[in-house]
Amino acid sequence: MADPPVIELRGVDKTYFNGDVATPVLFDLSFRIGRGEFVAIVGGSGSGKTTLLNLMGLLDRPTAGEILVDGRNAGTLDELERAGVRRGRLGFIFQFHYLLPEFTVLENALMPCRMEGRRYQEQQEPRMRTLLEKVGLGDKLDSRPAQLSGGQQQRVAVVRSLANDPALVLADEPTGNLDTRNGRVVFELMRSLSRESGTSFVMVTHDDDFALEADRLIRIRDGRIE
Ligand SMILES: Nc1ncnc2c1ncn2[C@@H]1O[C@H](COP(=O)(O)OP(=O)(O)O)[C@@H](O)[C@H]1O
Ligand SMILES: [Mg+2]
Repeated sequence: MADPPVIELRGVDKTYFNGDVATPVLFDLSFRIGRGEFVAIVGGSGSGKTTLLNLMGLLDRPTAGEILVDGRNAGTLDELERAGVRRGRLGFIFQFHYLLPEFTVLENALMPCRMEGRRYQEQQEPRMRTLLEKVGLGDKLDSRPAQLSGGQQQRVAVVRSLANDPALVLADEPTGNLDTRNGRVVFELMRSLSRESGTSFVMVTHDDDFALEADRLIRIRDGRIE
């Protein structure tokens, strides 16, 4: 049997409830992301892109519909199990790098492995060193984030997202905070790392150039797929 998609959405709705106020945001979203696929999500501000990534990242639950990760229905899992799926199968990149200032570049890249224990961290270290060298930070392994440029910091965040060898990386406007040149570098890195490791990527972007270079483009307008 063929591998299930890394993630599948079936008829997903999301409404936020705050007291008496209901804010419907996403409506009847259905799609699948295949293994190794690089997918861009575009849409205007407030169209629901971050809401969608939070659902795909199992950081929030849909109001209706189902989300399957590796063919497993995440809606049937409790919070502990969902955290396990997040740690083991998913990687995250945000617009702001969220590197920890008191740790070195290498320690930051290895941060997601900490939860898995010292032994696992030691196992992953050579791979993380290689990845950091590959993204041009071989001479910065022992530097603190504050000693790096914004583009370099985001490169560390990209490497960190791969620390647990995830099936799927979710990136929310990862180039949104960078100038054109650094944005391009970070985008190219994500593409090549995706190709080499077979990791699927879903990247929210405002940049049409990047979106058009993805394997597939999902356009969200007012909470629906166009
Ligand atoms: N926690 C929340 N409670 C209520 N409304 C929210 C919440 N988070 C986001 N929204 C609303 O959902 C809509 C989509 O937001 P968001 O997913 O952040 O859009 P995007 O990332 O595309 O800019 C917006 O109208 C926003 O105000
Ligand atoms: Mg957003």
